[in-house]
Amino acid sequence: MSHITRRSALITASALPLAARAAWSAAPKNIVLIGATAQSAPEVIKQALEQGRKVTALARRPDDVTGKGHANLTIIKGDVRDQASIESALTGKEVVISLIGPRVDPRVEVEFMDLYTVGTANIAAAMKKKGNKKLLVTSSVGAEHVVTEKPKSTDLRDMWLWNARKLYADMAAMEKMMPGLGLQYIILRPGFMIDRPQANNLKIAVDDKSPKGAGPIITFADFAAFILAQVDSDQYNSKAVSLFSDEQSEWGKNLDFNALLKKREATGPMENVPVESAAKTAPAASPK
Ligand SMILES: NC(=O)c1ccc[n+]([C@@H]2O[C@H](COP(=O)([O-])OP(=O)(O)OC[C@H]3O[C@@H](n4cnc5c(N)ncnc54)[C@H](OP(=O)(O)O)[C@@H]3O)[C@@H](O)[C@H]2O)c1
Repeated sequence: MSHITRRSALITASALPLAARAAWSAAPKNIVLIGATAQSAPEVIKQALEQGRKVTALARRPDDVTGKGHANLTIIKGDVRDQASIESALTGKEVVISLIGPRVDPRVEVEFMDLYTVGTANIAAAMKKKGNKKLLVTSSVGAEHVVTEKPKSTDLRDMWLWNARKLYADMAAMEKMMPGLGLQYIILRPGFMIDRPQANNLKIAVDDKSPKGAGPIITFADFAAFILAQVDSDQYNSKAVSLFSDEQSEWGKNLDFNALLKKREATGPMENVPVESAAKTAPAASPK
């Protein structure tokens, strides 16, 4: 049946005039979005649907995926630690985008992390089984230079890099895995993402350290636009692309620590804070 459908689609396409055939082949590709309740996911979903793509959203908490009810959005419950659940979201044709990341409290040391390596290996295995070819994974500018010495400063931005060094090490290990997975891939390394209208101010560094002094602040909307542009483009295949801007991060100006923490806590317990001690965790101090 699917053979017949494909055959008739081919005949129809080849019967089109040249310009129409070009438009046919340039139709935006459909995506599977893994980690579809991520802070950045609503913008990716919104922009992808506006571009006419079909979106399959895989999430541990499907009720919290945005865009419910749109005809081109399919929501599937799944977990990257369960390969079969990833397979259930794939038809073999989509470009796969992973936004997975752990829910962790930046004030508390992350003692163990394998989400990026294990999750990405499972995504790749599912893709290969179903025939999907291209994977966009999200890492971070923080994975470019994983901190090895405890900072002297108590500024939370420095302490976060230290507390989360195992998280960044797992991201870096995932980055190293990518060439061996047998897939087309792009590694995205965003800076600090905030919820503001699209600024169209992204700067990029490819396979390199971000320039010293680069501002890490970018918007979810710019990140989403960049990701979706890569779905249809091979320009950055096999590359790691750092995304940053001229805007520095500053508590009380473009970063609100308490709001960030509240938003994270609202979706469930922090994964690096034992449940019994979570209640005792001091309220977020004003970071310096
Ligand atoms: N936000 C930033 O400023 C920033 C900066 C640099 C890099 N990044 C990276 O960019 C990516 C997107 O960032 P974000 O802030 O939008 O993400 P986020 O809000 O931290 O969300 C991460 C997503 O991963 C999902 N997830 C976690 N474990 C999973 C599992 N086992 N199976 C399936 N899904 C799982 C979460 O589901 P639940 O909702 O169920 O927990 C959530 O949907 C992440 O990789 C993040 O580390 C973010």
